[in-house]
Amino acid sequence: MSDSPPRPIDPVDPFTFVLHGSSGDLARRKILPALAHLAANGYFQPQSRIILAQRQPVTPDEALAQADEFLAGNGEEAARAALTALKPLLSTVALTLGGAQAARSLDAAVEGGPAPVVHYAALPSSRFVDLMGLIRGARDPERLRVVLEKPLGSSGADSRRIEDVVAQHLDESQVYRIDHYLGKQAVQNLVALRLGNLIFDPLFNREHVAQVQITIAEDLGVEERAASYEQSGALRDMVQSHMLQLLATLAMDPPISLDADALRDEKLKILRSLKVPRVGGRDSDVVIGQYVAGHMNGRPVPGYQQERGVGARSMTESFVALRTEVNTWRWAGVPFLLRTGKRMPERLAEIVVQFREVPVQLYTPVGGQWSGNRLVVSLQPEDSLRLQILAKAPGQRDCLQPVALNLDFSDAWRIPVRDAYERLLTDIFRGRLSLFLRRDEVEAQWAFVDQLRAELQERAMQPLAYPAGSYGPPESTALAFRSGGAWSESFRLAGC
Ligand code: BG6
Repeated sequence: MSDSPPRPIDPVDPFTFVLHGSSGDLARRKILPALAHLAANGYFQPQSRIILAQRQPVTPDEALAQADEFLAGNGEEAARAALTALKPLLSTVALTLGGAQAARSLDAAVEGGPAPVVHYAALPSSRFVDLMGLIRGARDPERLRVVLEKPLGSSGADSRRIEDVVAQHLDESQVYRIDHYLGKQAVQNLVALRLGNLIFDPLFNREHVAQVQITIAEDLGVEERAASYEQSGALRDMVQSHMLQLLATLAMDPPISLDADALRDEKLKILRSLKVPRVGGRDSDVVIGQYVAGHMNGRPVPGYQQERGVGARSMTESFVALRTEVNTWRWAGVPFLLRTGKRMPERLAEIVVQFREVPVQLYTPVGGQWSGNRLVVSLQPEDSLRLQILAKAPGQRDCLQPVALNLDFSDAWRIPVRDAYERLLTDIFRGRLSLFLRRDEVEAQWAFVDQLRAELQERAMQPLAYPAGSYGPPESTALAFRSGGAWSESFRLAGC
């Protein structure tokens, strides 16, 4: 633990915040708890206003009671305790997007509140155009900001249609396209590790890196979100933004500064140089899957097609594994393996950089083929960094044993680490765009996903079944094997 005294909280300037879609799953699961924690920890000044906008008219007390019930159902006791801190700042407004009254109701709700007015669209992106029609204000980021949730559109063409309307109303500097993975502490650490230290970045290239793996595994199923998940599937829900942003953050060249555009320019180059995976055949670079009934922690759970709101013949993928490459001088030829799925055995998000082996191995190879060094950036369940090195095992002649240098960040700082949505919300209130996506990044992400989806459709590729509680279809293991190794869970500190 650090010896420095805890840093005091630096409150954000007063603001008016409108949460559109405040009764939805995202608002209740992530945004309201984040606002509540920030309020409870003293980030908000009393003049600030938080307005919950939803279709059904409710009083602030009713809205809080509903949020509380939702959080109780999910066992979120800390968030429940923090909710009351929101009460003094809270008001509500009933809005039907596209309705004749909506613009007037919204104007009346924000009237007299402090600038900036921040509209948070916790809505499906099909509603963004309607929302734009309601929002009034200057093209001035000090007065008006809008936050757009992912996935922004359902394809590149759909995204462009929405973005064109957004651009008619707002300047790019007013638009906060959110991907909450960029707000995770581990991602900040990854950037600091690369840009603040000279010992890693010089090794991040095709000479030294054998493979990069990015996994986002969820133990949850589709929960209450079947309606929107059926429209997106894992490719558009997780790969299109979260996974491609993690990849771009890891692979980008050092930017000339930490300014939003400098960072985004570098990520954009990576997103534009991604190789579209080969689809189909025995060497397919893509595996899609859908979970069937299985067991989680010894408890039987239903398959995807039996979930409430999912069609009995749904072909939506709840799992994707793919191999891509970054066609730049730094990375050409290095496999980047991405994998994400629901109902996997554990909640795990990590980036694994697998380094090459020494050119001539003098020691006995460690069991299996994965014996090089490995850097593991763990985003979930804990926020940590592990560097696996090979050390001489005591008593074992000429045999190397992997040992890990562990850095657990929750232990290293005395100030409580803010959750991703908390960090991103404070950045929005402070007008910092670095952790938000620019329009051209989103376009490049869609270009990759659109091409991939077109290939999947052309080859009529259907999701393969995997039991809930497993790491996906066995074909995913074969995909990793073809790229020269195994997925990270199978090499956790194998010994001699
Ligand atoms: C969201 C996806 O963006 O991220 C969800 O839409 C997913 O399907 C969630 O469950 C995962 O976020 P986290 O922070 O819980 O890993």
